[in-house]
Amino acid sequence: MSNHPKLALTGATGFVGTTLLTHLTAAGWHVRALYRPRKGRVPPNLPGVEWLPGDLEDDAALDALVADTRAIIHCAGAVRGVSRADFDRINEHGARRVAQAAARQKEMPRFLLISSLAARVPELSHYAASKWRGECAVKAAAENLRWTVLRPPAVFGPGDREMLPLFLSMARGFAPLPAGGRRCFSLIYVEDLAAAVVKWLAADTGYGETFELDDGCPGGYDWESVLDIAGRVLRDGAPVRRLPIPVAMLNFAALLNVWGARLFGYAPMLTPGKVREITHPDWVCNGENFTRVIGWHPEFRLERGLARTFGKNTKNTEK
Ligand SMILES: NC(=O)c1ccc[n+]([C@@H]2O[C@H](COP(=O)([O-])OP(=O)(O)OC[C@H]3O[C@@H](n4cnc5c(N)ncnc54)[C@H](OP(=O)(O)O)[C@@H]3O)[C@@H](O)[C@H]2O)c1
Repeated sequence: MSNHPKLALTGATGFVGTTLLTHLTAAGWHVRALYRPRKGRVPPNLPGVEWLPGDLEDDAALDALVADTRAIIHCAGAVRGVSRADFDRINEHGARRVAQAAARQKEMPRFLLISSLAARVPELSHYAASKWRGECAVKAAAENLRWTVLRPPAVFGPGDREMLPLFLSMARGFAPLPAGGRRCFSLIYVEDLAAAVVKWLAADTGYGETFELDDGCPGGYDWESVLDIAGRVLRDGAPVRRLPIPVAMLNFAALLNVWGARLFGYAPMLTPGKVREITHPDWVCNGENFTRVIGWHPEFRLERGLARTFGKNTKNTEK
C-alpha cells in the first residue's frame, strides 16, 4: 500500500488525461484512474497508477473510484458526437455523477472539473452547452463540495486529434482554414495544462471559482500569426500557404458527416456545431486570475510547444 496521497482521475486514457497522469505521478500522487474496458484494451502498467474499470454511467464504479481519495480530477468528456444527448450523457450527467460520488464520501475529496472555454458560449453547440451544464451540475452537487472549474482554450500537444492534424498539414506547407473574417483564439500546451492541475492540488485554494487559463500570449493568436510561427518552427522559415475553405462548404461537409455518423454509427468531429465553434470570432481568454490565486505560470507559448511536439530545436523558445 503506497503512502502517497491518493487521487481519482477520469479521462486518463485520452489526450489530456495521458499527460495529466504522467505529471500527477511525477508530483508524488497515487492515482486511481478510471478506464472503459474494451476488447483487447490493457491499460499501461505505470508506477503509482491503479487502473479501475468502469464508466461514468456506473455509480458503483464511481464510488470505488473516489473512495478514500483526497481529490478528484474529472477530465473525461465527450468531444465528438451528433446530438445533444450524445454530449449531455457524458459532459453533464457524467460530471454530476462523479460529483455526487464525491459527495457520498464521509470526507469529501476536493473536485477539479476540466471544463472548456466553450462553456463561455453555450448557445454555440451541443458540446459547448453540455460543458456549461456539466459545470452547473458540479456546482449544485453538494453544498460542501470544494469544487474548482478550469476552462482551457484549445489544447495542443502530442496525441491531440484536433489541432495536430492541422499542424501536420502546415508542416507540409499548407493549411486548410475557414475563409472569412479575422478569428482570434488563445491556446494552451498540454503540459502547461497538466502543470496547472498539479499546482491547483498543491495550492489547496481557489474553491468555488471558475478559471480560464491560456499560454500567456497577450490577445491570443490569429491564423496569420499561427501560420507564421508554424513556418518558422516546422519549415525552417518556409511559408505555410492558407487554403481558404468557404464556410458554406464546411457546413455542407458537416451535414454529410452527421448523416454518415447516423448511418454508420461513429462519433463525428466535424458537425454544424463544430463549424460554429471554429468560426466563432473570439476565443481569447487569459489565465491571470488563475496565476494570481494558484501561483501557476505557463511555460510554453505556441512556438515552444510546437517545437516540443515535433521534436524540433528552436533558438527562439519563448517563456
Ligand atoms: N482537447 C482540447 O482541445 C480541449 C479543450 C478544452 C477542454 N477540453 C476538455 O478536456 C477533457 C479531455 O479532452 P481530450 O481532448 O483529452 O479528449 P479525448 O482524447 O477524447 O479523451 C476523452 C476521455 O474521456 C473518456 N470518456 C469518455 N466518455 C466516457 C465515459 N462514458 N466513461 C468513462 N470515460 C469516458 C475517454 O475514455 P475512452 O478512452 O474509453 O474513450 C477518454 O479517456 C474533456 O473534458 C474536454 O472537454 C479539451
